[in-house]
Amino acid sequence: MAAFKNFMEWIDARLPVTKTYEKHMSKYYAPKNLNFWYYFGVLAFVVLINQFATGIWLTMSYNPTGEGAFASVEYIMRDVEFGWLLRYMHSTGASAFFVVVYLHMFRGLIYGSYQKPRELIWIFGMLIYVALMAEGFFGYLLPWGNMSFWGAQVIVSLAGAIPVVGESLAVWVRGDFNMSGVTLNRFFALHVVLVPLVLLVLVVLHILALHEVGSNNPDGIDIKKNVDEDGKPLDSIPFHPHYTIGHDLPAVVVFLFIFCAVMFFYPDGGGYLIEHPNYEPADPLKTPDLIAPVWYYTPFYSMLRAATYPLFGLDAKFLGLVVMAGAIAILFVLPWLDKSSVRSIRYKGLASRIFLGMFVISFFVLGYLGTVHPTPMKTAIAQICTAIYFAYFLLMPWYTKVEKTKPVPERVTM
Ligand code: HEM
Repeated sequence: MAAFKNFMEWIDARLPVTKTYEKHMSKYYAPKNLNFWYYFGVLAFVVLINQFATGIWLTMSYNPTGEGAFASVEYIMRDVEFGWLLRYMHSTGASAFFVVVYLHMFRGLIYGSYQKPRELIWIFGMLIYVALMAEGFFGYLLPWGNMSFWGAQVIVSLAGAIPVVGESLAVWVRGDFNMSGVTLNRFFALHVVLVPLVLLVLVVLHILALHEVGSNNPDGIDIKKNVDEDGKPLDSIPFHPHYTIGHDLPAVVVFLFIFCAVMFFYPDGGGYLIEHPNYEPADPLKTPDLIAPVWYYTPFYSMLRAATYPLFGLDAKFLGLVVMAGAIAILFVLPWLDKSSVRSIRYKGLASRIFLGMFVISFFVLGYLGTVHPTPMKTAIAQICTAIYFAYFLLMPWYTKVEKTKPVPERVTM
């Protein structure tokens, strides 16, 4: 033990390992009322590690060329030792990532975690979300199945709707006049090198920003207002070991059970996790009956399709692109749209609850509509839901200001 102590002293004199451990773990004081909704940050972390680990192994047997990609995925599934497991861990992990990240973001919405002083945590989170969408998009092309091909074809050709530069931009992104091995090769580079690096940096910044101001909590109370004589918040407990062992570890175990159940018994998720046309190789002459992105993009895909007629001299396709981009962009400015004097939905007024409820319902409906063929009726519903989605944000400065809030307690409630 003495040898270890001496070793740590030697290290600490050169690199602040113990100080960093204390700052972020054993002396990081987290509110003691964190609940179910606070599991998903750590779970996102678990999935991130899973994606990195399985991704590295998949890369060892994958062939990023137009001629070899599809066959190499078959080879991984059939011949590589436990290749099927690596692939399913990675493909199920992609969907799991979005499940936990959506729940994590929803927690931010209900407890006002984006409000001052946590705006930067939210902004880094949003950048992570956009990077994650890009990561999923680039990764989806790699098996070079028919849905990979046509999905990417539809999304890349959307760039063509941008006036003046659109067509050249689409060619620049593809590196070719059509989706080809060149496109596959560059998407591979982006998927395995650039975007993971960006994600990693953003996650570190996200946590650093969080630990600078401290976690919010279900009451939305500033716990630093009530401290003991040592300056430790009265309503807090050290993150390690209390949250790591007592809160997060059981959640990780339960999560892994659910994850394994899906991965072993339902890996294609009935066509929602791995779409059926992707069991056929990419074929530029055979368009799938329905081109739909994977479920985690479908709410935005619905908004894209909801723009059906030109407006203000803008082409409908371009307008759809603007609506879709706007739906994501508006989330970035959320901290400045909420004018409420309270953070948590527990103490906000009726209007906030109604708008949040309608927002969630419309998000689910849009998500469903993005998976089916559009009809005039479904398009009309998508248009209404898109309007509700935007109303939640655009009317927020008004309804959060005028609604009657409930009194917030002095100390956290358990
Ligand atoms: C790879 C993805 C992500 C990882 C690993 C991650 C990790 C974490 C962790 C470990 C925490 C602290 C524990 C917790 O509150 O659950 C946290 C808090 C937070 N995250 Fe993330 N996060 C990710 C994505 C996002 C996204 C996409 C957003 C929103 C756009 C976001 C917004 C927040 C906010 C606002 C907090 C503070 C919550 C509070 O204190 O109430 N995060 N994140």
